[in-house]
Amino acid sequence: MYTKILSIFLLYTFTSVHALDNGLALTPPLGWMSWQRFRCITDCVNYPDDCISDQLFRDTADRMAEDGYLEAGYEYLIIDDCWLANERDSDGRLQPNADRFPNGIKDLADYIHSKGLKFGIYEDIGTNTCAGYPGIDGQYEIDANTFAEWGVDYIKVDGCYEDTAGMEDKYAQFGAYLNQTERPIVYSCSFPAYKGLEANYTAAVELCNLWRNYGDIQDSWDDVKNIANWFATNQGFLNKFSGPGHWNDPDMLIVGDYGLSYDESIAQMTIWTVMAAPLLMSVDLRKIEPEFRDILQNPDALSINQDPLGIPGLLAWNNGNVRIWTKPILPQVDDKDSYAFGIVNYANGGGPHVVEFTLDEFGLDNADGYTIKNVFEPSDPVTVSVTEPIQISVNPSGAALLQVNPVAPSYASSLLRKMKYLPSIY
Ligand code: GLA
Repeated sequence: MYTKILSIFLLYTFTSVHALDNGLALTPPLGWMSWQRFRCITDCVNYPDDCISDQLFRDTADRMAEDGYLEAGYEYLIIDDCWLANERDSDGRLQPNADRFPNGIKDLADYIHSKGLKFGIYEDIGTNTCAGYPGIDGQYEIDANTFAEWGVDYIKVDGCYEDTAGMEDKYAQFGAYLNQTERPIVYSCSFPAYKGLEANYTAAVELCNLWRNYGDIQDSWDDVKNIANWFATNQGFLNKFSGPGHWNDPDMLIVGDYGLSYDESIAQMTIWTVMAAPLLMSVDLRKIEPEFRDILQNPDALSINQDPLGIPGLLAWNNGNVRIWTKPILPQVDDKDSYAFGIVNYANGGGPHVVEFTLDEFGLDNADGYTIKNVFEPSDPVTVSVTEPIQISVNPSGAALLQVNPVAPSYASSLLRKMKYLPSIY
């Protein structure tokens, strides 16, 4: 009988653990990706600094390594579309455009690795990439081997030019060839973005380290809000699939580009942080202004995003203009979680709005209260009880990110609390 119970237990354990187990992306990937800012610029004569070329990625590697991004945690440097030649080589292997990548991809990957960074690349599961370059359809094994030989650490596999019906199977096949190479490669899938909420999300968790769920981000605050709203509307369905090793991906950060003000940049960083989203910058790191660099490198925001529990935040309060996301984080003190609060003011006019709430309205109940740190407004943390009103001023189309930690009980209060549970005879 014990054997039966044990085997039922083992069966349950093994059949319930389905997530891709390549040991990668245990926290949301942090890095830089070329697409949003640099798109498919292939004209290096008129756009020498912006074209998709060996030079752009070497420059970016230098900036990531020397300007504090790598130290802050941003480790993946990812080439998006438009790196390929129009044809495979005579052996049927993928090859980069020879004019823009004269040293080949391996040499570029070696340079990126020499800076202490990891190297990512883009391809497409179908016949062509979204920009029309050769896809990997029908060549999964040879291409997985090529990527491993080049030293790829992360691959974004898009879903253009492929029938959505069989997409999950195709991603499974390519994933199996990636695993066969035995090189640890973060696998970013796109079929959920192509199939919508009808996609097989269980398959995404089993096969992929992260996946795009929704449309492409453009360089605007409207886009940030649209993406945030879509994820919040569908959080009941989506959040359960996201966690250590397998993440929902709302697309790149546009902080430091042309479309967001300083406050809107804090808002995107705040929302992506509390959603436990991958943070993939897409900005010209040679030209970014220091105040935007500081948003991207904010150590408290990054530690909330990288919290090992990996719990995606929930939109817990929606008051029209004021929306509050909450995300449980470490440390726990006597069974009480810490939290991040992302408070966003969607108003697009007027001045700062004072948002008032108490922590018990959000279910926080630590008897000794909490300390609150306002991440983007450095000052000493304040301590509050769970019923004390908290007032936070939030700029229009701006945000405040709060780190809320339980206060450890003092010796006297923990003694008193224990005494409450002593049998009455004492
Ligand atoms: C799709 C993806 C984008 C980018 C482009 C490249 O639109 O969603 O992120 O990779 O393709 O062509």
